[in-house]
Amino acid sequence: MPYYSDELIEEIRSANDIVDVISGYVRLKKKGNTHFGLCPFHNEKTPSFSVAQDKQMYYCFGCGAGGNVFTFLMQYENDTFHEALETLAQRAGISLPRQETSARERQEADKRTKIMEINKAAAKYFYAQLRMEQGKIGMNYFVKRGLSPETLKKFGLGYSNKYSDDLYQYLRKQGYEDAVLKDSGVVTIDEQRGGRDKFWNRVMFPIMDANNRVVGFGGRVMGEGEPKYMNSPETMVFDKSRTLYGLNLARSTRKHYILLCEGYMDVIALHQAGFDNAVASLGTSFTSGHASLLKRYTKEVYCTFDSDGAGIKAALRAIPILKEAGITAKIVKMAPYKDPDEFIKAEGASAYEERIAHAQNSFMFEIEVLERQYDLKDPESKTKFHNAIAGRILEFEEELERENYIEAVAGKYQIGFENLRSLVQHQGTRVGIAKERRPLKSGVQEKKKKEDGMKQSQKLMLTWLIEDSSLFEKISDWLGPEDFTDELYRQAAKILFAQYEKGKLNPAGIISMFTDEEQQREIAGLFNARLKEVTTPAEKEKALRETLIRLKENSISYRSRHLEPADLEGLQKLVADKKNMQKLKSV
Ligand code: GTP
Ligand code: MN
Repeated sequence: MPYYSDELIEEIRSANDIVDVISGYVRLKKKGNTHFGLCPFHNEKTPSFSVAQDKQMYYCFGCGAGGNVFTFLMQYENDTFHEALETLAQRAGISLPRQETSARERQEADKRTKIMEINKAAAKYFYAQLRMEQGKIGMNYFVKRGLSPETLKKFGLGYSNKYSDDLYQYLRKQGYEDAVLKDSGVVTIDEQRGGRDKFWNRVMFPIMDANNRVVGFGGRVMGEGEPKYMNSPETMVFDKSRTLYGLNLARSTRKHYILLCEGYMDVIALHQAGFDNAVASLGTSFTSGHASLLKRYTKEVYCTFDSDGAGIKAALRAIPILKEAGITAKIVKMAPYKDPDEFIKAEGASAYEERIAHAQNSFMFEIEVLERQYDLKDPESKTKFHNAIAGRILEFEEELERENYIEAVAGKYQIGFENLRSLVQHQGTRVGIAKERRPLKSGVQEKKKKEDGMKQSQKLMLTWLIEDSSLFEKISDWLGPEDFTDELYRQAAKILFAQYEKGKLNPAGIISMFTDEEQQREIAGLFNARLKEVTTPAEKEKALRETLIRLKENSISYRSRHLEPADLEGLQKLVADKKNMQKLKSV
């Protein structure tokens, strides 16, 4: 992203009143200082989405979505920060200056642009080839696979002909030098033999990034042959672990979930059948990079993988990665067919729709796979299976969640509910996690709870400070930005305290100093902690004091644990703070 100064970003932000902008998307109703509406980021019937004109921020008390006017566009339109900036600059009639960049940066950027151009030129070239005499074999192949002319066009499908350097010669004629061609991924440059095409006699699938730019290719061999699919190597513009085939189309689906498949042809067949939310990870297995990419667009992913062993393995791999990213995973079964492409061909779109409706919970799927390792007719093996189930159920953090899974699994495998439950509790106790009849909480989770509590206090403090800046006076003797132990919170606090020094708080401006949507959301959350209704000044005073003490104690203990032995200054500050703490407690 080009670099724009904080001043300019701030100018653009303050020229776009958040209430005006959001009113264009959400019907808002004014209540006091705040406007309320139905949250566009989750389903709800009563408004918990708030837009504060004075703070120039929005926040949803239901789902936690929040930020400033940039964040809103990023979340609502799936814009990048830069795109949101451009849109809002235009809206306010502010022109963005051309960027000053270093020579090196410019070179890099030039090369990226060139590689993008080459990819695009190659895509056009393959596309044209498919429609020529020498491309007939490719065209026949696609037709045989049931692709319509619209589909061929929508996906920009093409063909690489049988000559080994045809594309290379074409690109040379367009003026591209070997130096950049060799990094483009579509040709290889050999000292002796010169330039050669990477793909020949294959049908070609251009791979687009989410913004419709061609970043690489997949090529399928005609008929049998190895390798069946060949992909461009990674280049400056092609990062396989962050690219999903079909995402350029699927990102604007109206469906609330994404269909994740394994192959190019699956994605294409699904789109052709009306499932405009299908994507695939290509030639590489699903990574956390893919998951965080998907997270920008959805909270739910339906895995519609091959029904063979490899597909099951791929699903077992993808499930925890999706979960880790905060995405709910479900499994769509394709059996007795091999993959979505074959399923749709044989059964049609509505049968597939049916499969989606009956998609399996990912945990139940994992248990089903687990079952295959056991012989349930043999009591010993069966017991082992039950124990294994109990072990897996123990991985859920919440007691209620465990209970629900105990119920579901017990029902499905005809195990007595109480029996399975006591097995789970037993195992929990044995590994030292649980006490009989008490919620099963691991040490790790206890620690996490405590951390969450600390974060909550830090949020509360920051929210109070922006709601009532006179509080800065009250706390400044005791508390500073360094007392916020979460890295992101500390950065935000630092900026907020500096703003106070300069005489004007501007929390919405702090948000745009972070270009990552997740960070913006988290900072918006920082400034929108849900304040308990404190009625009297005395109550408020008390709450403030308690929070202050909690924060300070946490900060001292955190810093004692993390102090570098050689950091004398840090040590002095710590000792002084400890003394100060005694004073604070006795006030
Ligand atoms: P079709 O036979 O054309 O229907 O292929 P498919 O899409 O059903 O492919 P398959 O299930 O065999 O593989 C799924 C995906 O894995 C493909 O779409 C490719 O992205 C990738 N893939 C398959 N074979 C190869 C290979 O030999 N090399 C590489 N790099 N990727 C492959
Ligand atoms: Mn297939």
